[in-house]
Amino acid sequence: MKVAIGSDHGGLKLREEIKSLMDEMNIEYQDFGCECDTSVDYPDYGLPVAEKVASGEFDRGILICGTGIGMSIAANKVKGIRCALVHDTFSAKATRQHNDSNVLAMGERVIGPGLAREIAELWLKTEFEGGRHEKRIAKITEYEG
Ligand code: RB5
Repeated sequence: MKVAIGSDHGGLKLREEIKSLMDEMNIEYQDFGCECDTSVDYPDYGLPVAEKVASGEFDRGILICGTGIGMSIAANKVKGIRCALVHDTFSAKATRQHNDSNVLAMGERVIGPGLAREIAELWLKTEFEGGRHEKRIAKITEYEG
């Protein structure tokens, strides 16, 4: 699995935490920034990561900002992206099983690094269940055109 990861200034520390988790899990990833700790605009980092996933170059994406909200809104504008904003372990598992989410968004100002690592680990490990969930996702894909 290849993961594209990115954040704005509000998600810098958590991005490093999730990168070290992926190192421990032997998951290949590429970091798309941001590189600075000054204020930047989350769409400048969220949209490129989402596009990398939508194009098939990367299997999954992880986006972090202060709340995770801006990143999830931006990512979900990209055709083919199902970005889930997750701050609990139940949803981390469920969104992979039911929604086949291909991008995970989290907010560094919302949860601590321990919970964020658990969420990311579960989300990275959990497979899509398929079955009855296929046709629901197909309806979204059809709407996208
Ligand atoms: C930046 O201050 C903050 O607005 C951003 O990280 C994010 O929370 C937006 O949704």
